[in-house]
Amino acid sequence: MDNSKRLREARQHWDKEAARFDDEPDHGLHDPVVRSAWKNLLVNWLPSHPGSVLDIGCGTGSLSVLMAEMGHNVTGIDLSPAMIAQANAKARAANYSISFQVMDASRPDLAPQQFKAIVCRHLLWALPDRARVLERWSNLLVPNGRLLLIEGYWNNSGGLYSEQIVEALPSSCSRVIVKNLSDYPNLWGGAVTDERYMVKADRVY
Ligand SMILES: C[S@@+](CC[C@H](N)C(=O)[O-])C[C@H]1O[C@@H](n2cnc3c(N)ncnc32)[C@H](O)[C@@H]1O
Repeated sequence: MDNSKRLREARQHWDKEAARFDDEPDHGLHDPVVRSAWKNLLVNWLPSHPGSVLDIGCGTGSLSVLMAEMGHNVTGIDLSPAMIAQANAKARAANYSISFQVMDASRPDLAPQQFKAIVCRHLLWALPDRARVLERWSNLLVPNGRLLLIEGYWNNSGGLYSEQIVEALPSSCSRVIVKNLSDYPNLWGGAVTDERYMVKADRVY
């Protein structure tokens, strides 16, 4: 499928999902137990000093707001204007200043080497040519910047295995750790039986 058609269809799909996206416990983070599980994960894996963080495919901005709460200077990008509208409203309601921009994550139009960390939850699996995409993302990181990729292989409904991500990482990324997230029901609002994980990698040069 040609790229502009693929992007148009993805945008239409996610624009339609935006109003109800936060109904899922791990999306809206309305339950304090789920919210605190995500906060703990991010506190443990993001750099301890507040810095610039990019949330790629930020959706309704739940993780963006959580990271702003932790003191980070957050930028969020997403293809869907309806998702970005929700994210802006959420940041405003929480009184955080976050720069949300409508953008294709496959080719982010952002200056290189400016982020201390990049977080991407549940988008990479859906992007074609993931090795090229990961190279572009790693170029946005300062040296020693950190990539946190939260993905899964959701039984029969698609996804990625962690090995597929690790294989696609550019050579500039090292110190790779794969953390299992399936065994943490509080992250998901209940027990899960499929494969969920986070890949951590640092840009070393
Ligand atoms: C499953 S949602 C995840 C949202 C958010 N990361 C979260 O975990 O709550 C996938 C998000 O990726 C966005 N998206 C899909 N294709 C994209 C693309 N090519 N560039 C940027 N965002 C995209 C969608 O609009 C949607 O908000």
